Amino acid sequence: MKIEKMRVNHLENPLCFSICPLSFSWIVTDADGSRQRWARIRVAECFSCQTSMAEDSFWKQAEILFDSGEDAAADSMDYPVSLDLKPRTGYLWEVTVMADNGESASAMGKFETGKMDEPWMGQWISPKIEEKSENGLQQAEGANQVSTILAKKFFMDESLELSSGAARLYICGLGVYECWINGKKVGEEYLAPGYHSYDFHLQAQTYDVAPYLKAGENEICIWLGEGWFKGRLGFDGGFTDIYGDRLYAIAELYVKNEQGEKLAVRTDDTWESRVSPITFNNIYDGEVYDARREYWTDSLTEEQAENTLGGSAEALSEPAGKPGYGAVELAAPERCGALTDRYGLPIVKKDSFAVKELIHTPKGETVLDFGQEITGWVEMDCDFPVGTKITLSAGEILQNDCFYRENLRTAKAEFTYISNGKRALARPHFTFYGFRYMKVECDVPVKADQFTAWHLRSDFDQIGQIETGNAKVNQLFSNALWGQKDNFLDVPTDCPQRDERLGWTGDAQVFSETACYNMYMPAFYRKYLWDMRAEQSILGGSVPNVVPRLKQGMVAEHGSCPWADAGVMIPWNVYQHYGSKTLLAETYPGMKAWVDCQRKREEAIEGPHLVKDGFHFADWLALDNEQPGPFGATDPLYIASAYYYRCADIVAQSAKILGYEEAKEYRELADAIKNAIHEKYFDENGLCVCKTQTGAAIAICFGLTDAQEGEALEARVKANKDHLNTGFVGTTMLCPALTATGHNDTAVTLLLNEDFPSWLYSVNLGATTIWERWDSVGPDGTISAEGMNSLNHYSYESIEAWMYGYVCGIRPAEPGFRRAILEPHPDQRLHYAKGRLETPMGLYESSWSCDESGKMNYSFTVPFGAEAELRLPDGRMEVLTAGKWEY
Ligand code: BGC
Repeated sequence: MKIEKMRVNHLENPLCFSICPLSFSWIVTDADGSRQRWARIRVAECFSCQTSMAEDSFWKQAEILFDSGEDAAADSMDYPVSLDLKPRTGYLWEVTVMADNGESASAMGKFETGKMDEPWMGQWISPKIEEKSENGLQQAEGANQVSTILAKKFFMDESLELSSGAARLYICGLGVYECWINGKKVGEEYLAPGYHSYDFHLQAQTYDVAPYLKAGENEICIWLGEGWFKGRLGFDGGFTDIYGDRLYAIAELYVKNEQGEKLAVRTDDTWESRVSPITFNNIYDGEVYDARREYWTDSLTEEQAENTLGGSAEALSEPAGKPGYGAVELAAPERCGALTDRYGLPIVKKDSFAVKELIHTPKGETVLDFGQEITGWVEMDCDFPVGTKITLSAGEILQNDCFYRENLRTAKAEFTYISNGKRALARPHFTFYGFRYMKVECDVPVKADQFTAWHLRSDFDQIGQIETGNAKVNQLFSNALWGQKDNFLDVPTDCPQRDERLGWTGDAQVFSETACYNMYMPAFYRKYLWDMRAEQSILGGSVPNVVPRLKQGMVAEHGSCPWADAGVMIPWNVYQHYGSKTLLAETYPGMKAWVDCQRKREEAIEGPHLVKDGFHFADWLALDNEQPGPFGATDPLYIASAYYYRCADIVAQSAKILGYEEAKEYRELADAIKNAIHEKYFDENGLCVCKTQTGAAIAICFGLTDAQEGEALEARVKANKDHLNTGFVGTTMLCPALTATGHNDTAVTLLLNEDFPSWLYSVNLGATTIWERWDSVGPDGTISAEGMNSLNHYSYESIEAWMYGYVCGIRPAEPGFRRAILEPHPDQRLHYAKGRLETPMGLYESSWSCDESGKMNYSFTVPFGAEAELRLPDGRMEVLTAGKWEY
């Protein structure tokens, strides 16, 4: 028996995240027993968490802050502990589990608090804004700052203990930053501090910097770029300076030993600013890196520096004194919230891709094909003569065998590197791309092995996997996984490549169930939902179209169904999949606020409890509307009312789970909405009057009718030549609605269709991700529309939730899969299906296969502490306990 995945607020050994309220979780594996008899949790403070985990003596000497004793009710998915945590302090925690058969296991984990409410010793600094100097040159002015380096030299006492864990850097930089100490980049993360609702909080990061420090002189450099904070953001040209118009940094570095701790360096007005080699950067357009401007790294004379930089159009002017060096001033971001410990997961390099093919196109272009559409950037081994310029441009697809990028709209998505004559591994710092192809323009010939593509995303792990006997369906599954990997870079984005990449709430909402199956998402969503609640707080509870909110243009709008319903649907899916009541309680105020907001609005108009007005994206991009355009045919007010009911119902259930009295009020509201929907949108036979596939699918999935809606739905699919015509809303619900009403064969037909519109249509055309539109690319490979046509949009990937939940048949019967439903729906056309899901209870597996004679074999795994309701197609029903089962 082993204890694994010890998590604190859904993070393993978290370093300085926002972890209040504190909650522990763990998973028991390799057990012979089937459930927990009791668990014991102990917490103690530790010095820098250097204590060896194997040290039994630790608990004998430690000052124990919490000891649950043998707790028979201990919940392994969510064990909240109320502790008076101190800032910047390390803690160890141990869990011991005794199983029903008498075997036991223990394991230890650690966590460390960040600055919490402690005041910062570092001060916010920014490059000084100088008056115009006499020669007409000026230091980069506030609004013109695109990149800078804030630097400071400091001394470390020889006697200071610098072993790992004994030095911590607390830091935030705006728009985006990288910190370098003694010429090495600190930590493994990129694009920090990430994209959050800066208006409400600024998330600080913490790094273990002991490995970078040395006795004697040290140098810390904070590189700053524009990022989401002040760079161009939003479509149709977008906006700049949305959250601030200068570059800022704040930092403090502590060194700790047994004798105590010392503030080794902090930001203040004695720092200097340096001209950055990055002469241009923003999220959409990319970056220009002129390595000739790295002149501070050598002791160049002023004359040499001028020869390198002088006369160059890109050269920034320099303040008086040393070339390229300037002063800083104390200046704090004016329009932002307070500094807080981070919620956002680090953005890290996840996978690398070598060039699959170096293509010389008919137009004479050199194009690198990495074989998979990814989000991230390309690293180049550059060994070029000084002044050599190399530019990479990102694209998703080739057209007529040539490079193409028009569907990225105004996003230039380029990286230019200008060599200083020294060999370097060049990569962008303050941008990212969504790409499969990179066009290379270079003054000298290049070779494929000079380039490596890196996939970047928030640091979460895959927990789900599906394999079937159909290679194309397996490719679809891979494409869907990539859609998630590529669009979860700190916010759930609509797409990673064009001039958008925003946290569209509708896309995030319809995909959230699939997302929770594929990957371990609670910490990621915790951060997104924190921002959502913050944005709601100034919108009367309404949920914006995008989170973080852009505050200008149509992206500032809010309250549109089913975008705004993300405020309820995402936290509910997170609760269903990960079972944390602590997180449900944290997210509940936002859920309730959205339902209250809708109620206030609809009650202001006379009549029953229905959504009666407003702009709703509704079944966005459905194909069933004779009117051209992106809107589906299903009545948007029916869809909005159905979601209003669903959200009120979820709030009622949540309030009940959390023991809140208002549960009754929301139950009554939900019932009233349901009745009103029946009155207005259902006929005398109990069938929905919106006679679209989406209309019926919603009625079934939201439990709006007991009538034969499944038959009506199937008939509509058949009438459409066995094809779907749904958009964002209907696509999520279509196959679940068919299978749940006994029409699984039709659902599988939709899955296996290969002609337009279908999922495998894109697979046949070589897609490695899921497209925004069913017809993003025509049968001849020609991209259809350029205006709104991304090849990496995850909304239609919501089919994966049906594959997990119905084809393999793994669904939560109780939150967190403490009790699961195992109800596979075999279909001979798929030959076999194998599903695996590492839930918070542990690993569930569900597989079926069909041999030549048509005989079915089933096998299942149920994790320790869990139970599953097995429902086989022949009607057999059993309750399975932990273990492996064959039928
Ligand atoms: C985005 C979508 C988004 C939609 C709403 C598009 O441009 O890419 O996925 O939800 O706009 O208008």
